[in-house]
This record gives sequence, C-alpha cells and structure tokens, in this order.
Amino acid sequence: MDKNEEKQREEEREQVVSPWEVSSSGKIDYDKLIDKFGCQRLDQSLVDRVQRLTGRPPHVFLRRGVFFAHRDLNDILDAYEKGEKFYLYTGRGPSSEALHLGHLVPFMFTKYLQDAFKVPLVIQLTDDEKCMWKNLSVEESQRLARENAKDIIACGFDVTKTFIFSDFDYVGGAFYKNMVKVAKCVTYNKVVGIFGFTGEDHIGKVSFPPVQAVPSFPSSFPHLFSGKDHLRCLIPCAIDQDPYFRMTRDVAPRIGYHKPALIESSFFPALQGETGKMSASDPNSAIYVTDSAKAIKNKINKYAFSGGQESVELHRKLGANLEVDIPVKYLSFFLEDDAELEHIKKEYGAGGMLTGEVKQRLAQVLTELVERHQVARAAVTDEMVDAFMAVRPLPNMFD
Ligand code: TRP
Repeated sequence: MDKNEEKQREEEREQVVSPWEVSSSGKIDYDKLIDKFGCQRLDQSLVDRVQRLTGRPPHVFLRRGVFFAHRDLNDILDAYEKGEKFYLYTGRGPSSEALHLGHLVPFMFTKYLQDAFKVPLVIQLTDDEKCMWKNLSVEESQRLARENAKDIIACGFDVTKTFIFSDFDYVGGAFYKNMVKVAKCVTYNKVVGIFGFTGEDHIGKVSFPPVQAVPSFPSSFPHLFSGKDHLRCLIPCAIDQDPYFRMTRDVAPRIGYHKPALIESSFFPALQGETGKMSASDPNSAIYVTDSAKAIKNKINKYAFSGGQESVELHRKLGANLEVDIPVKYLSFFLEDDAELEHIKKEYGAGGMLTGEVKQRLAQVLTELVERHQVARAAVTDEMVDAFMAVRPLPNMFD
C-alpha cells in the first residue's frame, strides 16, 4: 500500500460528527471527539457535585456516563452554590412525526435537571431548520413541530416553568435583535470552518446558526427574563450540536453576554450496532415511541446486534462480547436498577445467560417505557400545547 492509499484509508476510517451527519466505520471514539471539539470530560467528581447540590441521586444517564462531556459546568455549579440560579435551554428539529428512543434521551434528562435544580426551561422547535435542510414545506414543518411538542410535553415538563416555542412563530423582536448581533460577529469563513458549508448550499443554511445560538441569551425572552440579563444558561444536548454552541460561546462575550454552559451526551445507537446515531429514516434501525409491544419484541429479536456466540456451546464457554452487544447497551440506558444491570452483565459476559434471555428482559423494559409514554402522550391536549407555547411570564419559575 503506498502512502496515498494509506492516507485515504485513514480518512475513510475517520468519524464524521456534525449536526447533520453522524457516521463512523466502527464505534464512535468519544475521547477523540472531546479532543477535537475541545470540550471537557464529565468526571465522577462532577457527578458527585451535582448529587450534593441537588440532594438527589444522579440520573441514570449521568451515573452511567451517557452525558459524558461538558463546557463550563463547574462555573454554573459554582454560581448555583452561591445561590445564583440559571435556566435550561434545549431543542428539537421536527423532522419526523414519531420520535424514537434516541430523541427522548435529552428530554428525559432535561426533565430531571429541571426538577433537581428547580429552574426554568426554554425548548426551541427549529421548524425553520428542518424546512431548509429536509426540504419540507413551511406548513409541514410547523405541523411536525406541534406534533413533536406533544411528545416533549409527555416527558413530564412543568408548565409553570417551561416555555416551548417554534421559530416560525416566535422569532422577532428581542430574539431577532440578538440574532443580528450574533450574525455581525461571524464571518462567512468562520461558518464554513465550523459547519462545512459550500458554495452550493443555499443562503438559508448559512444564515441559520444565529437562530439556534440566541436562546442561550436571557434577553431573547423578555417575557421571562426581563431585568435578568446576567442569568446563566445551561444547555443539555447530544454532542453533535456542539458546533452551534462553539460559535455561540465564541461570540457571547463580544456582545456582552455570558457564554452558555453545556452538558453533552453520546448517541443512542441503532439496533444494528454502534456506528452512528439512530436514524429516523430507517424504521428497522430504531424503536419508536409509537411502536406496539409486539413490534418492539420483533425488532429486538430480529435486528438487535448481539455480542453472543454462534452456538449455545460456544456461548457457554466464551460468554458474550459486551463491548458490541446492543441489548446490554440499551439496558444500560433504560434499566434503572444498578444491581440488576450488573448481574446481567456478569452472567451474560460469562456465558451463564443467553442472548435470548437478555433480549426478553430488554423488550420488557422498553415496552414499559414506551407504553408509559403513549399513555402520557394521549393525555396531551391541544389546549396544553397552547399553554406551553403561550408567550407569557412564568412567575414561579425558580420555586
Ligand atoms: N438542531 C437541533 C436538532 O436538529 C434542535 C435544537 C435547537 C437543539 N436548539 C437546540 C438541540 C438546543 C439541543 C439544544 O435536533
């Protein structure tokens, strides 16, 4: 193999993680990603600190390292310790009707943060983003935003502390002023460097990043935070959103605002194995919140990549390879009982437990979760969506 070929192979092995593409030839190397993006690893001492400050056990996603990276989380906790509150900001690009389990991860975690820290939350639905990237009509993107809002509300957010907004409806006024301030600080070369836009991309894409940036600044929400220009912001998100907030943090001090802090998660893998995030476009790669118990069982049995051995004899002898096993990976996200998870890993890894048994337990856990979500979602009315999305003050948002 000559040098060129070698280099090409190397590049093919490279992982791509951007807001629009997550792919890699093998497992995503999250350590490499932390280095490349320049964020910090979320270590045990920070998890302990969150536990101490909130007086409650850390969420499964925190204690099992699903949220594994951060920016300036220490600073926001320092301020919180001194009695200074903050607000949470997260979002969703409404590109599909039904959400899959991976989509729920940031919202389940944000709900925990809201309850644990007792702070307000803004949720951005980027219907404009999906309209521009997914070739959806304006009307269809707006419809999807409202449908997705129902799933988000079903995660249990507190309406007295939560403002959900669609870009198409809300952008304007103070929010738009902040967008223009941000846009003036970012050159074309800079966005090309961060997001990889090319001369063929339409200018809607190039102009979008300030829209996702400015919910990080309290003055974008005068009905919520008027007179609180120095309130800090914490953003829970998957790490593919980091480029937006790198840009935001770069600009913030130049226009007189705090940099937002971030707490970032790894991706929830596809059933077929850990090479990217679950794709909404391949229905067999994901468990949807709309799936029936039967569909969940079938998908797991048929598609979940197993680290078990080829024959029972071999499996009893060698045990499962837990590193690549999807049922164990999924259980580590959603089986809350630490002791049971350890037991399964030990038995399955040693060959005492078979893949079929682990899959059966997983089907139970996910069915329970999905059915609970379906009941909650069915109870969300249009009036409730209107209530969450109304531009209104939240007088008791810090209680
Ligand atoms: N761009 C995100 C998506 O496509 C949506 C989003 C907007 C978001 N603001 C956010 C995600 C803040 C996390 C945090 O899903």
